[in-house]
Amino acid sequence: MKTRVCIIGGGPSGLMLSQLLHLKGIDNVVLERQSREYVLSRIRAGVLEHGFADLMRTAQCGERMDREGEIHEGIFIAHEGRLDRIDLHKHSGSSVIVYGQTELTRDLYEARDRMKGIVIHDAEDVQLHDVSSDHPYVTYRVGGESVRVNCEFVIGADGFHGVSRKSIPKDVLREHEKLYPFGWLGVLSRTKPVSPELIYTRHERGFALCSLRSQVLSRYYVQVPLTDKVEDWSDDAFWTELKRRLPREVADRLITGESIEKSIAPLRSFVAEPMRYGNLFLAGDAAHIVPPTGARGLNSAASDIYYLYHALIAHFEKGDDTGLEQYSAKALARVWKAQRFSWWMTNMLHTYPDSISYEQKLQQTELEYLLSSNAAKRSFAENYTGLPF
Ligand code: APR
Ligand code: PHB
Repeated sequence: MKTRVCIIGGGPSGLMLSQLLHLKGIDNVVLERQSREYVLSRIRAGVLEHGFADLMRTAQCGERMDREGEIHEGIFIAHEGRLDRIDLHKHSGSSVIVYGQTELTRDLYEARDRMKGIVIHDAEDVQLHDVSSDHPYVTYRVGGESVRVNCEFVIGADGFHGVSRKSIPKDVLREHEKLYPFGWLGVLSRTKPVSPELIYTRHERGFALCSLRSQVLSRYYVQVPLTDKVEDWSDDAFWTELKRRLPREVADRLITGESIEKSIAPLRSFVAEPMRYGNLFLAGDAAHIVPPTGARGLNSAASDIYYLYHALIAHFEKGDDTGLEQYSAKALARVWKAQRFSWWMTNMLHTYPDSISYEQKLQQTELEYLLSSNAAKRSFAENYTGLPF
C-alpha cells in the first residue's frame, strides 16, 4: 500500500489529523491496534477548550458538539466548606465546552466513514522503518496477513503506550516524567449532576471533583492512595467519601446512584523531546501526558494537531518546510505551558501523604491568593480555557 501520510493511532489526535488532511485532498491511512468498539468504550475527560472546538469545526465534525455540548463559563472551587466560583468568561473572554471525549471520537469516526477515509482496525505488530530517510514505511499484520505501507511521513499518534515514541533512538529521545503519589477513583453514574458547573474540591481527606457528561450523566472523582484497588470501593463507600469532602450544601443535594463505570487512574506528568525524528512526528499522548486536574490532556493534543496540520499543508501545497522544521519546538513550547498549569493545579488541590505543615500552609495560601486576586483569576482562566496556539 502507498500513501502520503501514515498515521499510527485512531484516537482523537490521529483521527482529527486524518480528517483535516483528507479535506485538503491529502491521502492518508490510520492504523489502529484496537477495534472501534474498544476505542469507543474508553471513558475520558470531557472538557474542550475553544481551540479544540474550532479544530472540530474545521474538520467538519463540530455539528453535534455544537448542538449537544454545554458551554461552561465558570468553574467552582470548594474548600474549607465553602464554594467559590471563578468566572472564566469574565476573566478571559473565553469559555470551555463540556462534551464527552467518547462522543467526540465517535463523531470523528463517522466523519472518516462518510469520506471513505481508510482506518484499519486490529492492526497488530505495527512497526516503523527508515523514518530518518526520505522513504519511511510502516508494517503491520491484520488477520494473519502482513502489510507494508510506503509513505512520506509517519505520524505517531498512538498514545502513551504506543510504538512510535519507542522507535526514536534512545540517544536522541529525552523523557521528563513526574509520578504523583495518588490516583483518581472515578465513577460514572446515570444521575443528575450535582452542579451545572464543575466543582474542584480541596479537602484534608483529599481532592474531589464533580463533573458531568450531560444533564443526566454525572462523573465524579475522589483522590485515593495508589495502593487502593477498585474492587475495594463499593458504590456506597464512594458516595460516602465524596460527600465527606464536599461542602455540606453540595453534599446534601448530591443525587447518588449505581455506578456504570468505576476505575482508578494514576496521575502522571510526562514529556518526550524532540517531537520529531526525521520524517516521524509525534502528537498527543504519544509525546506528553498531564494529570487530569486542569483538563489539559486532549487540549494539549489539539495544538500538536493544529501545528502539524498547517505544517503538512504548507509542505504539500507550497513546498514550504518551515512549519515541519519548527514543529517540535513550537509544539513543545505550548505543551510545557499546559504541563506547568496541570502540575500547579494538581499541587494546589491534592493532599500529599508526606507534606510538612509549611507546604500545607503554602498550598492553602496559593488557593486563597487565586480566589482573592483578579490577576490570579485571569491567569487561571486564560490557562483553563486554553492558551493561544
Ligand atoms: N499500533 C496502533 N495503534 C496503537 C498502538 C500501536 N502499537 N498503540 C496504541 N495505539 C492506539 C490506541 O489503541 C489508541 O486508540 O493509539 C490510540 C491513541 O489514542 P489516545 O490514547 O486517545 O491518544 P490521543 O489520540 O493522542 O488522544 C489525546 O489526550 O490526555 C488525553 O484523554 C486525552 O485521550 C486523550 C488524549
Ligand atoms: C471529567 O469530566 O472526566 C473531567 C473534567 C475535568 C477534569 C478532569 C476530568 O479536570
